[in-house]
Amino acid sequence: MIKIYAPASIGNVGVGFDILGAAIIPINGTLLGDFVTIKLSTKFKLVNKGIFSNQLPQNTQHNIVWKCWLKFCKIIKKNISVSITLEKNMPIGSGLGSSACSIVATLVAMNEIFNKPLNSNELLLLMGEIEGEISGSIHYDNVSPSYLGGLQLILEDSEVISQKIPNFKNWFWIIAWPGINISTSESRKILPKKYTKEICIKNSRYLSGFIHASYSQQPNLAARLMQDFIAEPYRMKLLPNFLNAKEHIKKIGAISCGISGSGPAIFSVANNICIAEKISLWLKKNYLQNNTGFVHICFLDLKGARKIG
Ligand code: HSE
Repeated sequence: MIKIYAPASIGNVGVGFDILGAAIIPINGTLLGDFVTIKLSTKFKLVNKGIFSNQLPQNTQHNIVWKCWLKFCKIIKKNISVSITLEKNMPIGSGLGSSACSIVATLVAMNEIFNKPLNSNELLLLMGEIEGEISGSIHYDNVSPSYLGGLQLILEDSEVISQKIPNFKNWFWIIAWPGINISTSESRKILPKKYTKEICIKNSRYLSGFIHASYSQQPNLAARLMQDFIAEPYRMKLLPNFLNAKEHIKKIGAISCGISGSGPAIFSVANNICIAEKISLWLKKNYLQNNTGFVHICFLDLKGARKIG
């Protein structure tokens, strides 16, 4: 039997649409992500548990976990029956890499139980492929950090899909999910098909500047450059009063604030705990739309997917 945990993540990280992703872990030591337990069995079985298991499809064959199992068996050319328990702790369509958590935890667990037939590059390719089938197009900015941890720069080079880049040790990442859901594929469809040359140049400048500031450890420059010209202008209408929230959070002292992945979760960054707590409190009072929503003050999760127990 094997049990794997895969952490939640912030796609895009403001400045890197489909190119940057960060795995997160609450600073209070709790885990924010999905768990998958797999054991060998005589026939395929899937049990759904966890806080958000009620959001999963009734039909097992519509569950991402089933898709992962099927594709994994196809690649290793063996049809092996397993019994899987999915502990679904991340809300679906939250913008916190919920589908990535389930995909990563399942594929890592499958690979472990069969003595690693796939290397990490092959596994990541498969994760991206499955994420792409669910969301409309392949993007690695959730699966990669959830699998490998930290802040990941997506390269999609012929040999290297993604690599970890330096992060800022004293940054607190405050994430808020308002308790409503937005489908990633819908949120991708509303984006323009084309962008002007000016936007392309500006986006390249901000993203390359952010990477430079990360390597040269200039936190203030990095934070100023975390701006989104690709998705935020079009997606913000899907979020509850986003601009108002952003303005308030910045006034409290956040050094950055943006949409997490395809939303409706948002993230903000603070460089001290007092400000992080004030932001968290404000978000709890003002951004949550119902009592399923949540706010967490997080660090980056540098470990990524891991064995539990
Ligand atoms: N980069 C993806 C998007 C992340 O913004 O559509 C989805 O969570």
